Amino acid sequence: MTVDSASDLTDELGRLWAEYDLDSLTSEAAQYLSAGTATDWGLSAVVDYAVPTISLGGGIPDPASLPREELLDAMQRALAPADDGPLRYGGAVGFEPLRVALADRYTRDRGRPVTPAHFLLTNGSAGAIDLVCSAFLSPGDVVIAEAPSFSGSLRTFRGHQTEVVTVSMDHQGMHTEELEQTVERLVAEGRRVKLIYTIANFHNPMGAAMSLSRREHLLRIAARHGILILDDDAYGDIYFGEAAPRALSALSGGHGVITAGTFSKMIATGLRVGWIHAEPALIERCTRMRFEMGNSPLLHRMIYEFMKDGTLDRHLEKMRSLYAEKLDILASAMHEYCEPYLSFKKPAGGFFLWVTLRDGLTADALQAAGLEEGISFPIGYAFFPNRIDTTGEHIRLAFSWTSKDDLREGARRLGRACERAIERVSGGH
Ligand SMILES: Cc1ncc(COP(=O)(O)O)c(C=O)c1O
Repeated sequence: MTVDSASDLTDELGRLWAEYDLDSLTSEAAQYLSAGTATDWGLSAVVDYAVPTISLGGGIPDPASLPREELLDAMQRALAPADDGPLRYGGAVGFEPLRVALADRYTRDRGRPVTPAHFLLTNGSAGAIDLVCSAFLSPGDVVIAEAPSFSGSLRTFRGHQTEVVTVSMDHQGMHTEELEQTVERLVAEGRRVKLIYTIANFHNPMGAAMSLSRREHLLRIAARHGILILDDDAYGDIYFGEAAPRALSALSGGHGVITAGTFSKMIATGLRVGWIHAEPALIERCTRMRFEMGNSPLLHRMIYEFMKDGTLDRHLEKMRSLYAEKLDILASAMHEYCEPYLSFKKPAGGFFLWVTLRDGLTADALQAAGLEEGISFPIGYAFFPNRIDTTGEHIRLAFSWTSKDDLREGARRLGRACERAIERVSGGH
């Protein structure tokens, strides 16, 4: 084909395609979602202020502590065998020895003996949650979630054309009395309530760990109505003193509980390796809806090597004390610089501080003033399904990624931003 005839062709195709409306080709599910991403936190896309911004935005591990050398070492060992295993398709459930290692870990730490058949490896826990939705939810089904909840998962539920109904929570986790009433009301209305989504351990964004009595109540309510529980356990291994109360999966003896897990917060978000932990019959339903040939067998082997000799456990020990120290630094600097303007309760694990603003200070005004002072963070309402914070005015501060110096400086800037925002509100600007 000559260059001229090729450009004639593209001109002709351009004219033909101009008649089509992309929305008519877009799936119903994608039309259901607005443009944007899971981390659409109300921050403007282009932030160009004089002071370089300190971000307290994402739940991402500390960059200086990433175990680069140990991972490189593990990768070398993963690639050492002469066979093509690490570089070949890995199947729907993922690399067996890594699933054995996970089963051993759960048996040791989560209080119930389980087997590799209870695990399926996924593309992060976000991939796990998406796959659970594909396997168990149909358009129009109801998912119950805590308010607030992780914005990424709320978006996933919407993408599966389900309706999210929320139940409020406090620092003991989901209000299960309210859950019970909500479920009874929905069932009486003839709605199909299929899934209760909870982040029982060191919640994102609230930091709460659900109490044992609420865990037991939740399990009873779900079982009475035949509703699956999806426990998103991204932060369960990041605790600062005691671990969270016994896992929902262990308390239930596996009945009706699916757990999503991940290496993202323990090691690095870029690995994109997570898992579904559930009874084998539930795992089998998930494999039916798996169409992307599994995720990377090479990374499964690398992570297996990283776990095998205890490197993961040693790394986690260090990370727990690092994040506890970072939280202390942020919390004490906030007491110093921001005290009259806001309040918070220190979490016992995880990456986040959920901050309540005092009367008269709005999260929108504080975020805008924060950007002018050189600090960015998400607004509380980004963690509610309709972007309405029904519980007050909040912001979420992540202390995991930011350096210790920047945490101190960030709190100082936040204090100034509070003053600026309050002045504006009282000055009527
Ligand atoms: C509660 C929760 N679940 C799931 C995820 C997704 O993590 P990943 O897909 O990296 O495992 C995150 C990430 O921030 C999270 O906070």
